[in-house]
Amino acid sequence: MPIRRRRGWDLPAHALTPEAAVLDRRRVLAALGLGAGTVAAGAFGLRTAFGQGRDPIGWWEAQVGNDPTRDLYPATRTGTYTLDRPLTEPREAITYNNFYEFGSHKGIWQAAQRLPLRPWTLTIDGLVATPRTVDIDELIRRFPLEERHYRFRCVEAWAMAVPWTGFPLAELVRWAEPLGSAKYIVFDTFQDARVAPGFRQTWYPWPYQDGLTIAEAMNELSLMVTGIYGKPLPPQMGAPLRVITPWKYGFKQPKSIVRISFTDQRPVSFWEKLQGNEYGFWANVNPEVPHPRWSQATERMLGTGERRPTLIWNGYGEYVAHLYDGLTGERLFA
Ligand code: MTE
Repeated sequence: MPIRRRRGWDLPAHALTPEAAVLDRRRVLAALGLGAGTVAAGAFGLRTAFGQGRDPIGWWEAQVGNDPTRDLYPATRTGTYTLDRPLTEPREAITYNNFYEFGSHKGIWQAAQRLPLRPWTLTIDGLVATPRTVDIDELIRRFPLEERHYRFRCVEAWAMAVPWTGFPLAELVRWAEPLGSAKYIVFDTFQDARVAPGFRQTWYPWPYQDGLTIAEAMNELSLMVTGIYGKPLPPQMGAPLRVITPWKYGFKQPKSIVRISFTDQRPVSFWEKLQGNEYGFWANVNPEVPHPRWSQATERMLGTGERRPTLIWNGYGEYVAHLYDGLTGERLFA
């Protein structure tokens, strides 16, 4: 997302890494037995010869052969969620990405091939009956996968329509057994400076993080996504696990999630920390609420370049508008 450029030395006070966060990261690395320079490479792990100059589709198909869950794809489509536009060409969706860990431009697909997808674990903690850490393959096999065709709208006004594969976030929440006091769910994403150069840009408040209310997480549209176009996700689209909430702008949908925490405190997300006057907690799509620097009235479809009118709630009002009844005084659309 466009941010105001600062000179390298011109760090805003809020962008400084808090000492506690640095210490915490050291503790995590120590607990994992990883010192500086240690490379954790396993089966389907760190890829050194990645797709420089390769065809993105051919490269992806070759990688899928290594995925331990490939037998689960393609999943059966849930017909309930229909589109008003054609699906975006896979090549367009997998080569035009926002993944700031790998660069602050759209052409990061090759750089993202360095992300080691296995071993990968998801930690579930905070206000839950029993905190736990689960292996990603065990998690993916725990919940039946389904395919859903959803619109996707980035706050930058580009859009796509894609077939995601995943399972309802509500199922994961129920399995996590949050305590009655939990009000929010927070998604933390991977943070490993050995594979992603973005972490050296210390003015960003890493790790990429965002959250939802428990009611939003329990909504039937909220999906934990493991695949796209009938295959496991490619790294650049958030493998092995991301979240999709199609009525919200894309920045509310973290990729490559490693931790899900339940809390009673409203989280302040990556973009909100960076530019709270432009990006807030709710970020629901609304054509009538412009971004401070551009209109949201229309959107540009990836691939075709077609301009379409933006839909309130990205067209999903019948499922989600009720979640916001009575929330007056909140910036619901930023
Ligand atoms: N997740 C992580 N970890 N890092 C990111 O930079 N960018 C967000 C979101 N999730 C981002 C992220 C933004 S701004 C958008 S628009 C979408 O991912 C883009 O998803 P896509 O590139 O898979 O289409």
